[in-house]
Amino acid sequence: MEAAGLSGLVLALALALPSVALENGLARTPPMGWMSWERFRCNVDCQADPRNCISEQLFFEMADRLAEDGWRELGYEYINLDDCWAAKQRDVAGQLVPDPKRFPRGIKALADYVHARGLKLGIYGDLGIFTCGGYPGTMLENVKQDAQTFAAWGVDMLKLDGCYSSAEEQAKGYPEMARALNATGRPIVYSCSWPAYQGGLPPQVNYTILAEICNLWRNYDDIQDSWDSVLSIVDWFFTNQDVLQPAAGPGHWNDPDMLIIGNFGLSYEQSRSQMALWTVMASPLLMSTDLRTISPEAKEILQNRLMIQINQDPLGIQGRRIVKEKYNIEVFVRPLAQAASALVFFSRRTDMPFRYTTSLAKLHFPEDAVYEVQDVYVGKIIGDLKTADNFSVVINPSGVVMWYLHPKTLPVQPWHVVRQQAPGGGYRPALL
Ligand code: GLA
Repeated sequence: MEAAGLSGLVLALALALPSVALENGLARTPPMGWMSWERFRCNVDCQADPRNCISEQLFFEMADRLAEDGWRELGYEYINLDDCWAAKQRDVAGQLVPDPKRFPRGIKALADYVHARGLKLGIYGDLGIFTCGGYPGTMLENVKQDAQTFAAWGVDMLKLDGCYSSAEEQAKGYPEMARALNATGRPIVYSCSWPAYQGGLPPQVNYTILAEICNLWRNYDDIQDSWDSVLSIVDWFFTNQDVLQPAAGPGHWNDPDMLIIGNFGLSYEQSRSQMALWTVMASPLLMSTDLRTISPEAKEILQNRLMIQINQDPLGIQGRRIVKEKYNIEVFVRPLAQAASALVFFSRRTDMPFRYTTSLAKLHFPEDAVYEVQDVYVGKIIGDLKTADNFSVVINPSGVVMWYLHPKTLPVQPWHVVRQQAPGGGYRPALL
């Protein structure tokens, strides 16, 4: 009797809930892993370049590296196919199939290989006639079938690109794929490129809807192997932080695109800056580099434990730029669990290391607090700092200094009040 009453209540509550129940419980912290696109592109010439072409061999080898070189233990668990894995035609049953020469064992076998190593497999599709690289796309009538194919192969994440489709098709297709993925019963993280095809900003982009249907989404242009490209992405994301910052949270993340650390375009300082700024943005950490030949310096940046802990903070609050000095120094803050924070001091200067002096009071930290400060890259505990104390950091050209601050004593109340910059200027308290 009682049990029946309770289940009746649960049912009534379930029916009363608005239909936003596409929340799939996945990606509670930003996804981490490896993705082929930025480094390996659409190189399909396995004859000329067998080691680097898009083939199962490349993914087997990267899976080995993720599993054996300390990446997996740190959280880098997804290994993601991007474009150009498919055959140029669907099969007679209308199903997507991998290129038979380059993926002779098929995607299911690749998924099994990846799973046997404690990793997860991501795949790429495109809502439209073709993928951006000209491979078969997922038209509206293919959405269900493709979701089922991916689930049957054992895929754990889908990036759904948006080349060759209209705004109307995207508005229908992206939510439809969310429903189709849920209907398969397999947990599949869903990455939507939808906003990137609609300018990334309201009114064309509705971040409330996106957060209901997608676990992450590409907002902006593709990253390229250059500092200019990193800067253009940083500029866009922080210029639009009033719109973008509140959209992120556990289960739903902005995606400023892959990490290019380990490739050719960034200096050591610039590599450290990309890692720090992506972490402040609560961005997915999807590396696109050759893990077989990565340098020890690049590996150390990508495997920084405290950095990853900050990126994966359970509160999932995206950080903000709070200072933009005329002389090309910027300061960013990300609030973290237990009243901790990450601070990034970033120099866009091109002259010499710059001594920047400020105080936590000037950065709007709570009055009368005392923090233990740790330098994220140097690894050392610097010491205790009171909100009122002045301090200096020396920031290299196109580099960062990054600090992790946690309070020496937790406030008496169950939460801690941090002031976050409010849209349009000023500050508002955020309860953590
Ligand atoms: C688009 C995406 C990229 C990549 C390519 C593949 O440009 O934004 O991330 O997937 O397509 O063709």
